[in-house]
Amino acid sequence: MKRMTSVTRLSLAFGAALLLGMAGGAAQERGHSHTHMMTPAPDARQLLDFPPPMREHMLANMRDHVETLHAILDALAANDPAKAGEIADARLGLASPGAASCDPKAAAKGADHMATMMGEHMPQQMRAYGFAMHEAAGKFATQAAKVKESGDLKPALAALAEVTQNCAACHAAYRLR
Ligand code: HEC
Repeated sequence: MKRMTSVTRLSLAFGAALLLGMAGGAAQERGHSHTHMMTPAPDARQLLDFPPPMREHMLANMRDHVETLHAILDALAANDPAKAGEIADARLGLASPGAASCDPKAAAKGADHMATMMGEHMPQQMRAYGFAMHEAAGKFATQAAKVKESGDLKPALAALAEVTQNCAACHAAYRLR
């Protein structure tokens, strides 16, 4: 076996020091972990087998969902709960265009082809999360409309938390890629 050159020895030592340094850093990070930080677990989400056009359609819907949440919070921050409710109803409620695929009764109400196909591709539990999310958005709209009179924002916020709870529950269970 050839003797190690000093350069090789040096780079080996440097590499080992780097690795140790990284391990130390990771240990430190764990030490500083906060209670709400997620522990990295193996990805147990169910992979959905959606044809590409359906996937694109769903992700576009999703991006609209997060923009809608933003618009809702913006209106609440501007002290306009009625407007927040109208936005929620129109863009997230059960009558909103994206809700049809999560609504078992939508086909009877004349859902379009894409919504019907999406509905058929979604696992039952996933549709249930979706339905619960759209339903909670409607509840938020109802509560938000009452705030001006009652002066109490809490019931509306509780309904909004029910919306985001279902966003999170579905994201924890399923993935497209
Ligand atoms: C019925 C299930 C379900 C519900 C309810 C749901 N999502 Fe999603 N969403 C998904 C899945 C599945 C993905 C794809 C995740 C992946 O492949 O990693 C996704 C992706 C997204 C993305 C990424 C979009 C992109 O272009 O990459 C955003 C943003 C998003 N969701 C926002 C929301 C918000 C906000 C809500 C609630 C108002 C919500 N979603 C409710 C299932 C859901």
